[in-house]
Amino acid sequence: MEKVRLQKYMADAGVASRRKSEELIAKGHVKVNGKLITEMGVKVDNHDRIEVDGVPMEEEKKRYILMYKPRGVISAVSDDKDRKVVTDLLEDDVRERVYPIGRLDYDTSGLLLLTNDGEFANHLMHPRYHVDKTYIAKVEGILTTEEIRKLENGIKLKGYTTAKAKVRVMSKDKKKNSSIVRMVIHEGHNHQVKNMFDAVGHKVEKLSRESYDFLTLDGLVSGQYRDLTRLEVATLKKNQK
Ligand code: URA
Repeated sequence: MEKVRLQKYMADAGVASRRKSEELIAKGHVKVNGKLITEMGVKVDNHDRIEVDGVPMEEEKKRYILMYKPRGVISAVSDDKDRKVVTDLLEDDVRERVYPIGRLDYDTSGLLLLTNDGEFANHLMHPRYHVDKTYIAKVEGILTTEEIRKLENGIKLKGYTTAKAKVRVMSKDKKKNSSIVRMVIHEGHNHQVKNMFDAVGHKVEKLSRESYDFLTLDGLVSGQYRDLTRLEVATLKKNQK
């Protein structure tokens, strides 16, 4: 673990918010390795012994959760408009302060990971970490071979060109003028799948994420979640290298 600022470490461990942790430090409630700390800027990691009012701080247990996110829920831990957020779906069995790794749009359903392990989350979200994500999109219209080729080879969007993608038309409904398309991408730009289809003239009507690397939604219905197994966590960490 990389050293982080004391107030961040305390906040991540669930002692108090970052602001409140700064106050605790400034008011002389916090010791690191037996030494009273009142200035900001001290960095710590798991090897440091931190006490708050003489009570040793235990690091919060790491949790790794796979959720089947429903539509109509925000991928965040709070919302300024008071809409439902993914952490509202967690029951009392999850007391750790987990947050989503990346995000799915409000109207997108599917596989979302949540954790309180910052290092793990940062690795998975790093552009260098190429993990395949599979989306199923219901789009307006019928795609031409040329449009599929464009989606697969890379499309110029605002500020970037998409990397190679895999695209398969699963079904077409000529009467309703719509198609179901499976797309596998490894990037994670905001609204990327919708923007890619928009760029070739097909509005996405419905979107869901079916898999994330080797993880699937098997065994879960919308709104449910489960802990990742130790093997799954270890494999995701290994794939990060
Ligand atoms: N791409 C999108 O457009 N939306 C999502 O929620 C995920 C990927």
